Amino acid sequence: MINIALPKGRLGEKVYNLFATAGYECPSILENSRKLIFENTEKGVRYFWVKPSDVSIYVERGAADIGVCGKDILEEYAPDVYELLDMKTGVCRMAVAARKGFYDDGRKTLKVATKFVNAAKRHYAAKSRDIDIIHLNGSIEIAPILGLSDVIVDIVETGTTLKENDLEVIETIFPISARLIANKASFKFKTEEIEDLTEKVKNLIG
Ligand code: PRP
Repeated sequence: MINIALPKGRLGEKVYNLFATAGYECPSILENSRKLIFENTEKGVRYFWVKPSDVSIYVERGAADIGVCGKDILEEYAPDVYELLDMKTGVCRMAVAARKGFYDDGRKTLKVATKFVNAAKRHYAAKSRDIDIIHLNGSIEIAPILGLSDVIVDIVETGTTLKENDLEVIETIFPISARLIANKASFKFKTEEIEDLTEKVKNLIG
């Protein structure tokens, strides 16, 4: 049995469909219920719906053998897992954004609001830029509008959220897409099953 942690939400549904097409279907998952665990013993899979940012925790600790999470999470938390495959979905980028026309006065400490504290710190440390990190949990785009921060470091997908809040991208930090990850011990003990699944999914992605 392979235990698979899927990120709850649109990305997870897309990823489940890929797994199902690859031969790892579990029809009960499509029933609209509040259940979080589904299994298909015949196919040897058990799926869990977890919060997207928690997938790597389940996998790192072995509660799930494999899972799918964004590259943003891998960059931010550097979990001790294997990254098996770029699933080429959930494509977006980590970027710095500010109010239109913002001028960065290099002599002042830059106030940076973000959910991705480590990624932001690394980005500015590489440029030796002095920053003050403001750790927020959501609606990051509001911070520069209210003067809480000068810039934000956040995920940009279509750019709509920035546009509708009169913000613009100043620089892209790294590209993001969904990745298939595996627990290191699981990979050792279930090598064949996990490699089989990875290969089948990879063939579908092309
Ligand atoms: C992310 C991100 C932006 C938005 C960007 O938020 O934080 O707010 O998506 O998407 P766009 O460029 O297509 O407008 P998410 O929906 O993941 O939720 P969050 O507010 O919890 O970060």
